Amino acid sequence: MRIAITGGTGFVGRHLAARLDPADTVIVSRRTGIAIDDIDALTAAFTGCDAVVHCAGINREIGGQTFERVHVEGTRAVVEAARRAGVGRIVMLSFLRARPDCGSAYHETKWAAEELIRQSGIEHTVLKAGMIYGPGDHMVDHVTKAVRTWPVFATVGFRERKVRPVPIEDAVDVLLAALQGRLPDSTVAVMGAEELELGEAVRRIARVAQRRPVYIPVPVWTIRALAQLTEWTMVTPLVAKAQARMLAEGVSEAAPSTPEPPPGIRPALPFSEERIRAALPGGRFTIDDLRPTRHARACLRRLRNGPVAVAS
Ligand SMILES: NC(=O)c1ccc[n+]([C@@H]2O[C@H](COP(=O)([O-])OP(=O)(O)OC[C@H]3O[C@@H](n4cnc5c(N)ncnc54)[C@H](OP(=O)(O)O)[C@@H]3O)[C@@H](O)[C@H]2O)c1
Repeated sequence: MRIAITGGTGFVGRHLAARLDPADTVIVSRRTGIAIDDIDALTAAFTGCDAVVHCAGINREIGGQTFERVHVEGTRAVVEAARRAGVGRIVMLSFLRARPDCGSAYHETKWAAEELIRQSGIEHTVLKAGMIYGPGDHMVDHVTKAVRTWPVFATVGFRERKVRPVPIEDAVDVLLAALQGRLPDSTVAVMGAEELELGEAVRRIARVAQRRPVYIPVPVWTIRALAQLTEWTMVTPLVAKAQARMLAEGVSEAAPSTPEPPPGIRPALPFSEERIRAALPGGRFTIDDLRPTRHARACLRRLRNGPVAVAS
């Protein structure tokens, strides 16, 4: 089976690709020279593929890379290219709480993308996944670096929110089941086996990282302000505005209500210290994580060596 993965250079896409035959896998991302709104390039990439796994997405907007353009126009292009290339199946990775009219552009555009897949006329599965963790993720990575960098950790609000973290192994198992047509439903919720309070998830990660920060509960608006600040200043924000919204409402229930995979395919692994340890990154946040530092270094390089791309 030949498979194209949009977002195949990202966290989930990389782990999925590692479980597939490289000779029969096509990786689509800007880093491999294909933007997901380029229908001709996508059609060429998808030609000869039996299935497309659509993982490309963003969690913050930068310049022209808006949620509308990447999630909605990008998915429209993926569907059109899949149709032109005669692809038989699309599996899309969406977010557990993607839904319309909720006041968050991330959630609303992911929902709009789901609808494009559901209306594509191509056999499909939409996976609405909760927070996925594992080596190279955005969850254990950010919390670990934060507790290694600062002695205090701001927790979201005064009411505990619940999460059901999904180990990347489990998430890839469900993706593979979807590819093989083994899921009975065409829209499926992917949640981890263990439900815990967000604060406990953070404490568990800090314990594994051997740090004991002081936890300070702060109002939700403070986390939103922190998200805006870190989107402006950090290469990969400590928390993006879309993530602040996710944390504020919890990530333990599908919205709208969605069936889970059958037992045997459903995620079964707990958020254990052993699995957190496997996902632990090296290092902490440094000034190299700041966008002005990256720009300054790129400008210096350009002065020394001639023109190079400036990373955002
Ligand atoms: N991680 C989670 O916990 C989680 C949970 C539920 C849903 N999701 C969704 O699942 C998807 C994958 O998540 P992830 O954690 O793997 O994200 P990620 O690590 O940020 O990877 C995103 C991927 O999308 C590609 N991409 C972004 N904009 C693109 C564009 N304009 N054209 C082509 N490729 C583009 C990126 O590659 P380039 O930068 O090279 O283009 C990268 O390969 C996302 O849509 C995310 O919203 C993630």
